Amino acid sequence: MGASKEIRFDGRVAIVTGAGGGLGRVYALEFARRGAKVVINDFGGARDGAGLGAAGPADKVVDEIKALGGEAVANYDNVATPNGGENIVKTAVDAFGKVDILVNNAGILRDKGILKMEPENWQAVLDVHLNGAFHVTRPAFSVMRDHGYGRIIMTTSAAGLYGNFGQSNYSSAKLGLVGFMNTLKLEGIKYNIKVNTIAPIAASRLTEDILPPDLLAKMNPAYVAPIVLYLGSEECNETGRIYNCGAGFYNRAAMMTSPGAVVGAGKKIPSVEDVSANWAKIMDLKGAKEYGQLNDLVLQDLLSALEGKKEPAQSGGGFAAVKDVFEKMPGAFQPGSAGGAAVVFQYCISGDGGGDWSADIKNGACTVASGLHATPTCTLKIQAGDFLDLMNGKVNAMKAYTSGKLKIEGDIMKSQLLEKIFKF
Ligand code: NAI
Repeated sequence: MGASKEIRFDGRVAIVTGAGGGLGRVYALEFARRGAKVVINDFGGARDGAGLGAAGPADKVVDEIKALGGEAVANYDNVATPNGGENIVKTAVDAFGKVDILVNNAGILRDKGILKMEPENWQAVLDVHLNGAFHVTRPAFSVMRDHGYGRIIMTTSAAGLYGNFGQSNYSSAKLGLVGFMNTLKLEGIKYNIKVNTIAPIAASRLTEDILPPDLLAKMNPAYVAPIVLYLGSEECNETGRIYNCGAGFYNRAAMMTSPGAVVGAGKKIPSVEDVSANWAKIMDLKGAKEYGQLNDLVLQDLLSALEGKKEPAQSGGGFAAVKDVFEKMPGAFQPGSAGGAAVVFQYCISGDGGGDWSADIKNGACTVASGLHATPTCTLKIQAGDFLDLMNGKVNAMKAYTSGKLKIEGDIMKSQLLEKIFKF
């Protein structure tokens, strides 16, 4: 593969919290090297958050950036207070006029087994990681909304996603950040604010006694910076996703939901024994899917159970009737892939079992209605049998189009979105 265009941040303003050391310092240096103006926030406390704070760590990174010819200002506020969060954002606005990128990175550890976990150690960790992200994100979101642009990166942890002995406080705070992202991804759509979450693994003072020494030596934080920079860039169209990253390995983690079972056929309240009898089916993740938001679960699968349908939506094909496709369409919609698009698709399906349906996509939601829409962006015309073949994966869309089975009118380019934004 040839070298792709350099990803730059000229004219962009980034805030990195906890940037006085560890991972945050590396992100900040890289943002600055690529043209961003950076706010280096660091409270300068101990690994467990203790101490009165110190200016040294943030100042040192600002000096490093200036020595490279970059632009940066220091901020020593504590993310754990609402005032601290406000001041961090104010520092960016006063110095550079706006905030385009926010990396919520500041963190501490207070590991203990649950029985030894005193409330203050629980609280301190939630205050820095979860409440801290809220304190900085809220004022930053307001500035981003005013400018119609924002990239926010949360920092979770494999401890939160999967569990880690002795870290109940930290795991809870870290998975809380995923919940925070899940809602912000929806609230940010119309302002072009994209929110993603990383779960890094790297050598730092936080992991020096957690990871084995030979592994630590290979876990340079520099391996994490490229994905943070990508998620902070204009290039990034993703929102609402989680990524593990470390040592040059990057993958996506997701909350998958099994097809499940409708117990009682929507006609009676199931007994405990009914649930027990259906256990294997409830548990089976085969055909699992990713919901885009709460309503995808409620409007799609729960309602179809109440209507007495035997099976909730399965992922991928298997459609026997054209109308089934449109019933499942809202649940198959992937707001994260729609990238804030506003478009109305009109389907005109001819022949037996056909009809007209429209799918109206805006503000990160998909509304399907039967009949003709007054102002469709793009109209798709196809025979019922051909449409089912298409939806059941027997024919691909390009082939159906080039063979004339599928006719597309209006904004043809928009039809290319279809494969991306619906995952049946
Ligand atoms: P680190 O301890 O080297 O860096 C964290 C920085 O945050 C420190 O410079 C600290 O002074 C600052 N900080 C702490 N509390 C603060 C507060 N209240 N306000 C402002 N600044 C504060 O740790 P590291 O490893 O670089 O961690 C960065 C983030 O990555 C943390 O959120 C951590 O939980 C997360 N993480 C790190 C992993 C790793 O393998 N290093 C694994 C999973 C998550």
